[in-house]
Amino acid sequence: MEKITLIACPLSEIGAKLGNKELYVIFDRNVEGIVRGMGLSARGMLPIDASERTKVPATVVSLAAWLMEEGASREAFVLGVGGGITTDIVGFTASVYKRGVRFGFVPTTLLAQVDAAVGGKNGVNLDSYKNMLGTIRQSEMTFLCPEVLHTLPRKEIVAGAAELLKTFIIDNQGGNYGKAVETLGSKEYDFEKLGGLTEAAARIKAGIAGRDPFEKGERMKLNLGHTFAHAIEKLSAEGISHGNAVSMGIILAARLAEGMGFARKGLARRLTHDFERCTLPVECPYAPGELASAMEKDKKANGSIVHFVLPVDIGKVEICDLGIGNVVETLNHLQEQD
Ligand code: GLY
Repeated sequence: MEKITLIACPLSEIGAKLGNKELYVIFDRNVEGIVRGMGLSARGMLPIDASERTKVPATVVSLAAWLMEEGASREAFVLGVGGGITTDIVGFTASVYKRGVRFGFVPTTLLAQVDAAVGGKNGVNLDSYKNMLGTIRQSEMTFLCPEVLHTLPRKEIVAGAAELLKTFIIDNQGGNYGKAVETLGSKEYDFEKLGGLTEAAARIKAGIAGRDPFEKGERMKLNLGHTFAHAIEKLSAEGISHGNAVSMGIILAARLAEGMGFARKGLARRLTHDFERCTLPVECPYAPGELASAMEKDKKANGSIVHFVLPVDIGKVEICDLGIGNVVETLNHLQEQD
């Protein structure tokens, strides 16, 4: 069991909670205002440009060189502030600098708070291959500050919405799935409720990733919708965002689960309705055969058998190994029925 520490607090308390550390802060230059409000006393501060283009080994080398120039010792604590790209780059750099120093995160997007900054997987891209170089090493403290959500444009909230809903489809303790649909489906977001749901989702993910950090079993559940989503992202060549691809992927997984008799009848229709209410896309633009060819090239595919996480009901998913041929046949059959 790995310890994953999530700290929910206002931004202004982060400095005091970090205490007297040899602190280096690496932040997305777009969130400089947020960094200024954290009351930090740091030895060094470095703004970076965070994008898929800069999420590459050369950036890791330049950040490590900066830490070295600043005189960062093995006792250093590196704080990454930004969205999931920033926390990935910073987490990876800290994991390899001097064979690994301590690090923490302040995720500043919904997607990063519920997913990217929790769980310990941090990596960078190699050529066109995403997260091909990386480590699994937990951040020592991940700060969940609800007020950062208030400043996000609606588009950014929607970008994290599918991962938030996904978490509650896996674990619906407290009826959080219904509450999340209600909150994300409103014209005006209630940020207090959204902050509470975000923390709940991050804690579910931290629980699962802490019990199974290296994805030998239970952690695979977090891949709900992702087998299809990775295929969609590959086919769209970055045209479809991760959040939107996950949304379409979850709906496809639900249709497949129902078509194969795993899921409660009506589940796919309910999820489709709920996701639409939250302004998430539900129709995948690619045919089942196209998705299958992309999946066969995916690193997680093993011959023509692929791991799928199938929703059985809200709050219950199962991990199944399915033949790609069988999946395509079921989805084609369902399309013909429509
Ligand atoms: N960095 C995301 C994860 O560990 O799942």
